[in-house]
Amino acid sequence: MKRPEPIDEEIILDNTKYIESDTDLKGVITDCNDYFAEISRYSREELIGQPHSIVRHPDMPKVAFKILWDRLKAGENINLAVKNLAKDGRYYWVFTHFDFKKDINTGEVVGYVAYRKTISKKVTDTLLPIYRKLVEIEKTEGIEGSEKYLNNLLEEHGLTIDSLLDEIYKLY
Ligand SMILES: Cc1cc2nc3c(=O)[nH]c(=O)nc-3n(C[C@H](O)[C@H](O)[C@H](O)COP(=O)(O)O)c2cc1C
Repeated sequence: MKRPEPIDEEIILDNTKYIESDTDLKGVITDCNDYFAEISRYSREELIGQPHSIVRHPDMPKVAFKILWDRLKAGENINLAVKNLAKDGRYYWVFTHFDFKKDINTGEVVGYVAYRKTISKKVTDTLLPIYRKLVEIEKTEGIEGSEKYLNNLLEEHGLTIDSLLDEIYKLY
């Protein structure tokens, strides 16, 4: 599927609704709610069966998704603020919480669920320059460079990725 050309126009979410999607262990969308389709401007049929990167925005650094996948594979959640790209090129920010789908008999993780809510502009205004800096580093130094930069930044401030995100979300 052709990638939409991003435009600098935001889609504002309804704060009473959740954007929900289920994926398999590789991040391929296996189900989603109507609100995801409405906001992303893709139909549910277009979304289901596609990798979740269908809504990946170029302002999102690779390292954010590396942290996400490391967490999910370790069976841990992360509350991640994500800028997503809609089919019409507009963007929407979401505060995402992840959950695990487990086989009822074996307890084995068989997939993931993401629940997304709206997020305040104060938070996204704080995060965007950090994300953009990481994207810029990735252009020349790859994900190793952005990971190193992020780890140094956290160490300098005595923070972990979760405490940094918590500090930023307090701006909510
Ligand atoms: C349950 C679940 C939900 C996800 N939701 C999003 C999302 O909303 N936006 C996004 O860009 N990536 C999301 N991802 C991450 C994607 O799978 C992918 O790692 C990311 O888009 C980066 O794509 P790339 O590695 O092809 O560059 C999600 C992954 C999972 C498991």
